[in-house]
Amino acid sequence: MKLDGKVALITGGNSGIGSATAALLAKEGATVVLTGRNQARGDQIAQAITEAGGRAIFLRADVRVADDCRQVIEQTLERFGRIDVLFNNAGVYHPRTVPECTEQEWDETIDSSLKGAFLMSKYALPSMIERGSGSIIHTSSGWGIQGGDHAAAYCAAKGGLVVMAKAMAIDHGPDGIRVNCVCPGDVDTPMLPDDAGRRGMAWDDYVAGASDRPLGRIGTTEEIARAVLFLASDDSSFITGEALVVDGGGIAG
Ligand SMILES: NC(=O)c1ccc[n+]([C@@H]2O[C@H](COP(=O)([O-])OP(=O)(O)OC[C@H]3O[C@@H](n4cnc5c(N)ncnc54)[C@H](O)[C@@H]3O)[C@@H](O)[C@H]2O)c1
Repeated sequence: MKLDGKVALITGGNSGIGSATAALLAKEGATVVLTGRNQARGDQIAQAITEAGGRAIFLRADVRVADDCRQVIEQTLERFGRIDVLFNNAGVYHPRTVPECTEQEWDETIDSSLKGAFLMSKYALPSMIERGSGSIIHTSSGWGIQGGDHAAAYCAAKGGLVVMAKAMAIDHGPDGIRVNCVCPGDVDTPMLPDDAGRRGMAWDDYVAGASDRPLGRIGTTEEIARAVLFLASDDSSFITGEALVVDGGGIAG
């Protein structure tokens, strides 16, 4: 098992990529602390992981709120004594150009993805620095590396995460802490049908749009989870400041 004895904290763990990653990291031996805003849903996911033989608990936190982030880190440290892996995965997407995007949508997008990763890292880093080890992974996107249509705030948040990871890697490499991004392409999670609906597209047409990519399909949450496991574990012990694109070749051209 690649994460035996480790403690992993996952934001946006209530669905999609976050819950699939929680299940995989638990299977690989980690004690998983899932966070999200919906307590009932989080408790269900933690219970399912426990019933499958893993160790997981849910702690409620809205990553836009500094006190929530601080408390979730404190509670994790009180309960388990350490945080080895921090997966900053929470995010929202509003399909908007700049003129279309409201200030509230801008703030929600930036605060959930970029500020949330900042706050969680801010409160987790001191204990990692003290222990001299840790792996922090932010969920960016292919659209954190290249632009996408109707996604100005989202691209700003995801691009910010890529460069923030590099800056953090420089600052905290000497502390024994690695910081990387995973950059998914289109992945089959609740985010995609939501996007298709808001763009007025039928789901079949939306998915068919992936057929011109090199691997000809959208990705699964497990495929992203395996990349996160790689970045979380010692398999990537010499990798920091990297943005690992996992998109079936979508932005290879
Ligand atoms: N699905 C894709 O195609 C795709 C592609 C690239 C990047 N991503 C990124 O992957 C990450 C996970 O998304 P997903 O695809 O699994 O979709 P999802 O909607 O299933 O998961 C996002 C999770 O983040 C949570 N979240 C949002 N704002 C939050 C907040 N303020 N506090 C706490 N939790 C919050 C949501 O409640 C949800 O559980 C996101 O950062 C997303 O931008 C997804």
